[in-house]
Amino acid sequence: MTTNKIDVLLGLQWGDEGKGKIVDVFTPKYDLIARFQGGPNAGHTLEFEGKKIVLNTIPSGIFHENTQNLIGNGVVIDPVVFCKELKNLEAYNVPISERLLISERAHLILPTHPLLDAAHEAAKGDQKIGSTLRGIGPTYRDKISRNGVRVGDILRPDFRAFYTEKVSEHLRQLAMLGYNTDFSAQETAWFEAIEKLKTLRIVNGEQLINDYLVQGKKVLAEGAQGTLLDVDFGSYPFVTSSNTIAAGACTGLGVAPQRIGEVFGILKAYCTRVGSGPFPTEEINETGEELRRIGKEFGATTGRPRRCGWIDLVALKYAIMLNGTTQLILTKSDVLSGFEHIYACTHYEYQNQTIDYLPYDLSQAKPIYTKIDGWKQDITNVKSYDALPQTLKNYIVFLEKELGIPVSVVSVGPDRAQTLVR
Ligand code: GDP
Ligand code: IMO
Ligand code: MG
Repeated sequence: MTTNKIDVLLGLQWGDEGKGKIVDVFTPKYDLIARFQGGPNAGHTLEFEGKKIVLNTIPSGIFHENTQNLIGNGVVIDPVVFCKELKNLEAYNVPISERLLISERAHLILPTHPLLDAAHEAAKGDQKIGSTLRGIGPTYRDKISRNGVRVGDILRPDFRAFYTEKVSEHLRQLAMLGYNTDFSAQETAWFEAIEKLKTLRIVNGEQLINDYLVQGKKVLAEGAQGTLLDVDFGSYPFVTSSNTIAAGACTGLGVAPQRIGEVFGILKAYCTRVGSGPFPTEEINETGEELRRIGKEFGATTGRPRRCGWIDLVALKYAIMLNGTTQLILTKSDVLSGFEHIYACTHYEYQNQTIDYLPYDLSQAKPIYTKIDGWKQDITNVKSYDALPQTLKNYIVFLEKELGIPVSVVSVGPDRAQTLVR
């Protein structure tokens, strides 16, 4: 039997493209779903049978009977948030311990990490990142500076002392920044959550995934955030602290580059961003408000209103290049129903020139648009690709031509069933 490849599904914009929904739809085809980066800054929404669930750390395959779910080494886990997710799942009778695996190498968000996150944001004045304040940046910083605490450490007999040493350093940093916060309640909850974590399957994730691939099993890597939030290639410094691109699946799970198979890139039919930073196609006007209202564009994790605007093909081409994207999945085209015309940014005006690539300073890029005919029909009940309005199909053909790869799935609503595969 030949060794299988791992498919990757990730966001091509600034996050919230609908990754959770599509992973849930794809899961029956896979034996294992593996999250490879990010942490509880993510909010992945699943809707089916009249239910709506938001997952932060747990992979979006968790509702399917015959698929395992791995939280990979590249993920950062807040045990308290994670336990809340487990609690939410109780209502759905999900046999968690049978379906969930956690890498021993995943790093833990300590109760002091969100405090450091808030302190650092506050110190940034008008240059705030707009972080979710879940402690993501400080946890990855500790990982990279070799001061992190990993899931495997919770089994150490001296874990409490190990933890105390790390937290003492955080308290020193907080004191220097002028903070002296009592976090004893968070600490108690954190240690309770650690006990819960100990009851789950803590594994060598890289060995598990590679064994799956050798055995001919199918694995899907689930990304969080989006390509334009990547710490290296996103709109730095207004980014998250991990590699959100396909290469992140290699380091975040322990799979070799040549083992990557399909790379599914998800994009909205328009564009959103939550938090600060450049967004060339943002519509700060009635159009933006209309997109937010119809698209229900409010953060799944923080509830913050998302900034909205038109699709940005320059940024998408860049994202497709970085990820080696092989197929596109278009979501939320239903939100555009009723717009007389829609717009797609094909070039930027940048320092008095017309360019078709992402410049170093994205904040100076002004969009140049192509105007496209909209469609009037409500498409949320359409059951086949062929039955979509012709103008929407024209838009999809236009996207494929501009972006150079096929759109293989079109999502026409938040529910699992509202998914058209071509
Ligand atoms: P993720 O972070 O990429 O998983 O995306 P989020 O869950 O944060 O945000 C996507 C939102 O759009 C969620 O509320 C989804 O239920 C919803 N959604 C996903 N696909 C579609 C779609 O095709 N149409 C509409 N109207 N909503 C969608
Ligand atoms: P999903 O997986 C959208 C944004 C934050 C902020 C920046 C840094 O649901 O698509 P952080 O908390 O990482 O320090 O925040 O990144 N951000 C997201 N935006 N979707 C997400 O995840 C995000 N995760 C982080 O708003 O601008
Ligand atoms: Mg989200």
